[in-house]
This record gives sequence, structure tokens and C-alpha cells, in this order.
Amino acid sequence: MNTYTTTQLVFFSPTHTSAKIARAVGEGIGMGRRIETDLTLDEDLTPIEIRDALTVIAVPVYGGRVAPVALQRLKRLRGINAPAILITVYGNRDYEDALLELRDTAVELGFMPLSAAAFIGEHSYSTPARPIAAGRPDASDLQKAECFGQDSWKKLCEVSSLPELFVKGNTPYKELKAGQPACPVCTENCFVCGECVEVCPTHAIRVSEDGSRIETDVNRCIKCCACVKVCPNEARIFDNPFAAILHERFNVRREPELFL
Ligand SMILES: Cc1cc2nc3c(=O)[nH]c(=O)nc-3n(C[C@H](O)[C@H](O)[C@H](O)COP(=O)(O)O)c2cc1C
Ligand code: SF4
Ligand code: SF4
Repeated sequence: MNTYTTTQLVFFSPTHTSAKIARAVGEGIGMGRRIETDLTLDEDLTPIEIRDALTVIAVPVYGGRVAPVALQRLKRLRGINAPAILITVYGNRDYEDALLELRDTAVELGFMPLSAAAFIGEHSYSTPARPIAAGRPDASDLQKAECFGQDSWKKLCEVSSLPELFVKGNTPYKELKAGQPACPVCTENCFVCGECVEVCPTHAIRVSEDGSRIETDVNRCIKCCACVKVCPNEARIFDNPFAAILHERFNVRREPELFL
């Protein structure tokens, strides 16, 4: 069933780990024509039709589910004759029902699941003082992602139709816990360069009217930590009780899981 000549990479990736995995999978597929649809900063709701393209969809795991904003943004997609490689990226704790939720969503949107995988990325809450899966995906992860892309492509060349794809996870999906509103704050090291404003996926950050400080709308913040990681002066911090627990309890390296 393989007459495809285009790979379309679609991702939501505030701290870039899902994007890195999607690109490595795209390398492995090795098709000349590769299109990227980055939904991270894109709040537009107009439908995006993906027709006749092998599609790679990569999203982060939040609370054992697909990150809610990622899910919202994926709902713009319409797959038409589009096999899909589905990827969740999680911070070395667990991905629980996120991959199953992504598979079910992809089917609802018209895609044909070809393969799926859960990869590990540096945890959004990881800091140099309390690392959690720091530096991941590393070279070994990226090589696995490339091979996974290659193997998915081979599968597409060999099969005449795609049966339902098995992935790990349960229904009903793990309950989504809203949690208390919270957001990173700026320390006195902030020199109001505005870089954090540019990377916020929900546009929760702005420079104050008099230009003297950074203001954050706590109710818009999804705690993704893109602003923390981009700050050139380590002036943005997110002090939350989970970071220490994750650092202590989830320090044994987990490896990618592949479903082909
Ligand atoms: C609000 C929130 C919830 C998260 N929940 C989980 C989780 O349930 N399990 C896990 O292992 N990692 C969790 N993470 C970590 C992210 O899944 C991980 O850092 C991922 O690599 C981020 O992807 P990105 O770099 O594409 O943004 C969470 C991160 C955030 C911000
Ligand atoms: S990126 Fe850092 S220094 Fe620049 S405005 Fe944001 S918090 Fe301040
Ligand atoms: S303010 Fe919140 S949503 Fe915006 S980048 Fe920072 S952590 Fe992410």
C-alpha cells in the first residue's frame, strides 16, 4: 500500500524533546519531501488537511495523558489516506494511557495508525540541581528513533492493509487532575529580554506596560517550563513540590517502547 512520497511531521513541543524525536523518526523514514507542522505556538483553529502523506505525530505526556493543549491543537488535523506514526514523549516517570489516547484520537481524525512509540525526554521540571532524565533524548534514543522510522517505513512497504494497532494503555483513561494554578516566576536576575515571552505556547507571559518587568497570567500557564529552559540568565524558576519527588523516585533510566 506504499505510494507515499511525503512525510509530514506534526508536533507540540514546548521544551523540544518531542520535536527532536519526530525529526529523528523522519530521518529514519528517509523520504526526500518532509513538511513540518509545529503546533507549539500556533493557537489558530483552522483545519489542517493532511492528504496522502506518511504522518509522524509527536506530543508530550502530562499526567499520564496527552498534554491537554497538544490534544486541543491536534484536533485541527484531518487525515486523508494518511498512515500515522504516533509518538508520546515522557519524562522518565510513566506514560500510562497517553499513547492509547493518541492512537484513538488519530483514528478519530481520519489517520491510519501504522506504528507507535513512547520515548523519554528530559522532564520539564528537570534542573541542573535536580536532574530528571537530563539530556534526553540522547544519542542512543535518537538512534532508536531513526531505526523506528526505518522499520515503520518497511512495514508500510510490506503490508496490504493496516489492522488495528495495539499500544499499551487502559480505558477509561487515567483521570486528568487539574491541579492548583501555578507558574514560574522571575528572579532579580531578569533583565526583561523578552525571550520567555516568545516561547510561551499559551501566550501567558508579557512585558509590563512600563517595560520594567515580566508579567505572567497564572490561569493561562500550562507549566510546560519552556520559559524556564529558554532563559539566558537562569532568571526564571518554577518551584514546585513534584520536582524533588520525581528526581528522587524516577532516577532509573527507562528505555523507549515500540509498537509495530
Ligand atoms: C504538567 C506536566 C505534566 C507532566 N506529566 C508527566 C507524566 O505524567 N509522566 C512523565 O514521565 N513525564 C511527565 N511530564 C514531563 C514531560 O512529559 C517531558 O518532559 C516531555 O519530554 C516534554 O516534552 P516537550 O519537550 O516536547 O515539551 C510532565 C510535564 C509537565 C509540564
Ligand atoms: S528570558 Fe529570563 S531574563 Fe529574559 S525576560 Fe524572561 S525571565 Fe527575564
Ligand atoms: S508561562 Fe507557563 S505556559 Fe508559558 S512558557 Fe512558562 S511554563 Fe509554559
